[in-house]
Amino acid sequence: MIAKTTEGLAVVCRQISKEFGSGETKTVALRGVDLDVFPGQMTLLVGQSGCGKTTLISIIAGLLNATSGSLSVLGEDIIGMSGTRLVQFRQKNIGFVFQQYNLLPTLTAIENAAVPLIIAGKSRRQAFEAAKAILSSVGLASRMHLLPNQLSGGQQQRVAIARALVHEPRLLVCDEPTAALDAQSGQTVMELLRRVALQPDRAVIVVTHDNRVFSFGDRIVHMDDGVVTNVEVPDRTTQPDSKVVLASHT
Ligand SMILES: Nc1ncnc2c1ncn2[C@@H]1O[C@H](COP(=O)(O)OP(=O)(O)OP(=O)(O)O)[C@@H](O)[C@H]1O
Ligand SMILES: [Mg+2]
Repeated sequence: MIAKTTEGLAVVCRQISKEFGSGETKTVALRGVDLDVFPGQMTLLVGQSGCGKTTLISIIAGLLNATSGSLSVLGEDIIGMSGTRLVQFRQKNIGFVFQQYNLLPTLTAIENAAVPLIIAGKSRRQAFEAAKAILSSVGLASRMHLLPNQLSGGQQQRVAIARALVHEPRLLVCDEPTAALDAQSGQTVMELLRRVALQPDRAVIVVTHDNRVFSFGDRIVHMDDGVVTNVEVPDRTTQPDSKVVLASHT
């Protein structure tokens, strides 16, 4: 289930565990997760509510500390990284799409999408140019001066994806990006993630409950009660979006 050589992998988790709280209130969310994520691929993470999916991707994205285990992200040991370096590493390399979009309500779509670049110290002009380009690539060129509450759920999700991609991260992590969307909008968002986010040297991890979008994954990682139980590698030649040619498969 896991690779013998890990060189070149986007993410390598070995025996990752996570406990929340202590004593009587202790919850063991992860109990030794082994996981490989390949560049140029979309990895789906699936499993029942409470099995540890959000906990795992939060650790991979450097937003949460593991209790034990080893973790390499884009070739770097992020468990051993100091706080400041981790923040810089995250800002440069990782995009995170939250289930509830987490857009800033008083900022327009383009301002929301520009935020990561402004935080990273780019000029407003550079940040806005990049935000405009990425919003256009997700089909929102005509909506970019609207506030989040003037956009539909699917449009807000696309702004959140644009914001997560604006700094061209090599790892994009999405937590249930289609959960709040109808079937059609969910398909559109997944198609968009494959088209915009996937490159030969970039990896995408998508947590989903939604079996309507399983066909978009190159790997489907099943979790149960804090561990990975199975990894499926679908035969993409039989998948509906097999037109999408992945660099790693060519
Ligand atoms: N901050 C926290 N404090 C205490 N327990 C937590 C915390 N975050 C998560 N947990 C617990 O860890 C377990 C895994 O939670 P997690 O959010 O990772 O599940 P999930 O697979 O993402 O579920 P869902 O599909 O419902 O989003 C759950 O039992 C949850 O209650
Ligand atoms: Mg979750």
